[in-house]
Amino acid sequence: MIITPLTVDRIPDLEKLLALGEPYIRLRGSSDYWLYATLFANTCPLAITDGQVVGSVIAFRSQVDPSEIYLQDVMTHPNHRRIGITRALVEDVHRQGSLWGCQRLFLTSEPDNHAAHKAWLAMDFSNVPGDTTEQGVSVIYNYKGPGKHRAVYERQIGA
Ligand SMILES: CC(C)(COP(=O)(O)OP(=O)(O)OC[C@H]1O[C@@H](n2cnc3c(N)ncnc32)[C@H](O)[C@@H]1OP(=O)(O)O)[C@@H](O)C(=O)NCCC(=O)NCCS
Repeated sequence: MIITPLTVDRIPDLEKLLALGEPYIRLRGSSDYWLYATLFANTCPLAITDGQVVGSVIAFRSQVDPSEIYLQDVMTHPNHRRIGITRALVEDVHRQGSLWGCQRLFLTSEPDNHAAHKAWLAMDFSNVPGDTTEQGVSVIYNYKGPGKHRAVYERQIGA
């Protein structure tokens, strides 16, 4: 497996991968991916196996608080799960954050995404205490706007 930054020529393959991510990943417009490849490639790594895009993380460093990096979309091809692809991609973003002197990775997840919940905990993220707990998952009400309740996870980028 190779970890490499997103480039414009890989966008069609990335879109094919992310189209498999329903209901937890929603495909964005092609020009959004162009933006990620052009302005945010340092935090948008792809995992390539046998020439195929099998995993991706789309993440951004905050301009409001540059010590933070938000992971927007994380996806591994269904045939390639549980072999460390997401771990490797997150470590890549973590390394970049460490180089920049960032302090925190964070992300949100749908409260019923139990596979993701287990994956984040296995990767040493903590589930930020919220307004309620649903089947062991802490959930913050209206985190992404009215009715958009989310589980929030964070990991420190330590020394
Ligand atoms: C969640 C997801 C990204 C995990 O990707 P992955 O490449 O399979 O994860 P990894 O193999 O790197 O696993 C990392 C750790 O999480 C654990 N893990 C991953 N999926 C798990 C699952 N379904 N159940 C329990 N643990 C799981 C792994 O065991 C591993 O821990 P370990 O090294 O201690 O064994 C993947 O299931 C996916 O793409 N799901 C659909 C899209 C999605 O829900 N994205 C997340 C949106 S927030």
